[in-house]
Amino acid sequence: MSILPVYLYGSEVLRTKTQPIAEVSDQTIQLIQDMFATMREASGIGLAANQVGREERLLVVDISDAEENKEAKPLVIINPEILAEDGEAELEEGCLSIPEIRDKVTRAENIRVRFRDANFKKQEIEADGMLARVILHEIDHLDGVLFTDHLSATKRALLKSKLKKISKGEVETKYPVVVVPPPKKKR
Ligand code: NI
Repeated sequence: MSILPVYLYGSEVLRTKTQPIAEVSDQTIQLIQDMFATMREASGIGLAANQVGREERLLVVDISDAEENKEAKPLVIINPEILAEDGEAELEEGCLSIPEIRDKVTRAENIRVRFRDANFKKQEIEADGMLARVILHEIDHLDGVLFTDHLSATKRALLKSKLKKISKGEVETKYPVVVVPPPKKKR
């Protein structure tokens, strides 16, 4: 198992829509193991494949660190599809790709999601609370969307200089990070 570098805000891969997986290969299993190792090293509760520079439509979740969720099992979610969203909740979010920034985001409170598990078996899950929140945040990642995209223009303006620093790699983290910006357009 390896700890993979986490791609930071400003990296092209975070804005790239991931591709559905056709089967779980040995490579996929390796990626899943590395993603869990990386997420735990960074004390994260969710991680999407493009956050470690990959293009697979795959995310991992483990919210069992929090006392109230200690019964929660780690989840491997492949090719997720949101079937239903209901209600509304405002919760503070952070992101391993956007260190040191946290803010409140409004999202659905209850969700139903269809996906494939690590055995590529079809699954459906209903989630609310923290679990729903993490899954929605990570599915956003797989579609190239970051939580800061959900903030108001005013809030984003306030965060602009901090985000710029992150995109230059000027941030302290206890886990390995990398920034790979999109290539500059030629005139
Ligand atoms: Ni994130």
